[in-house]
Amino acid sequence: MTNFLEERPFGSQYTNVYLSIFALFCFKLFVKISLNILTHFYVVKGNRKEAARIAAEFYDFGQGHSSWADRSPLHEAASQGRLLALKTLLSQGYNANLVTIDHVTPLHEACLGDHVACARALIEAGANVNATTIDGVTPLFNACSAGSATCTEVLLEHGANPQPEPCQPSPIHEASSKGRTACVEALISWGADVDYDIPHLGTPLYIACASRELQCTRKLLDGGANVQKGRFLDTPLHAAAQKDCPEIVKVLLEFGANINTRNLELQKAVETAPPSSLAERVLMHYEVTPRSLSELCRLCIREYLGRTRLHLIPQLRLPPLLHRFLQHR
Ligand SMILES: *[C@@H]1O[C@H](CO)[C@@H](O)[C@H](O)[C@H]1NC(C)=O
Repeated sequence: MTNFLEERPFGSQYTNVYLSIFALFCFKLFVKISLNILTHFYVVKGNRKEAARIAAEFYDFGQGHSSWADRSPLHEAASQGRLLALKTLLSQGYNANLVTIDHVTPLHEACLGDHVACARALIEAGANVNATTIDGVTPLFNACSAGSATCTEVLLEHGANPQPEPCQPSPIHEASSKGRTACVEALISWGADVDYDIPHLGTPLYIACASRELQCTRKLLDGGANVQKGRFLDTPLHAAAQKDCPEIVKVLLEFGANINTRNLELQKAVETAPPSSLAERVLMHYEVTPRSLSELCRLCIREYLGRTRLHLIPQLRLPPLLHRFLQHR
């Protein structure tokens, strides 16, 4: 073969051409493969990020603070509570309603950090108190999550909606589960629904009992929460018994919880308490003890007044002692 080529130089020129074509083909193949790998890498990575975002939205009741990259200096100042910087930025013309990709506003950040002065400055500059992130989180939700009673008050005073839209994270549930009693009180006084029932979470009272939050339980009952309403057929008493919280069990009974209500498994609260626990003992003792006439009267009167008029009790023409008794004080 070599001999043949050497004899015919024209043929060797052909080989060169073939070689160049082959090299060109290889180069093209290489570029193609690299591009494919790159595309694959980007698509898979991009999808993962999107999947993570969606997952957070569904399972996390998320706060949407994953994307820090597109936060503005205004977001930074608000989240760190730097009032002077914040005011300077606002006076330089920064929009108070600037949003990140996840629609987090500077007001969300200020409330999450319990920075009341910053929240006030932002609201004065026109920040939307009802702004929602892509997860449906409002500044009010963040204030309740952080336990910032003052931010909660400021937002409500400026017209924030105390009640979430359907499928949005609920501020009163958040506050109840974390024991933010002052936030719960503010929400109730501004008209949040104390019996707002979210199918998979239950009522705020149920959440408070399941989270062993005695003060919140009291506050919700004071605000007229229905003592029987929990999650599906589970009553708040079931939750308190299950978690072995004798104090909460006592409070619920004082507010007229029915010990004979059965849940989905047809169990009474006492049957769901851990064996030989304090909660079980309290419930058993209660079962065999007749209730005092004064307690029964109090329940009757409160029921007759109804939830919306409970706050008028101090205006009844009764001795202060009876006022306090009727208000469970
Ligand atoms: C916030 O939303 C509530 C309920 O939709 C509405 O009544 C209120 O006016 C809104 N507040 C502001 C400041 O837009």
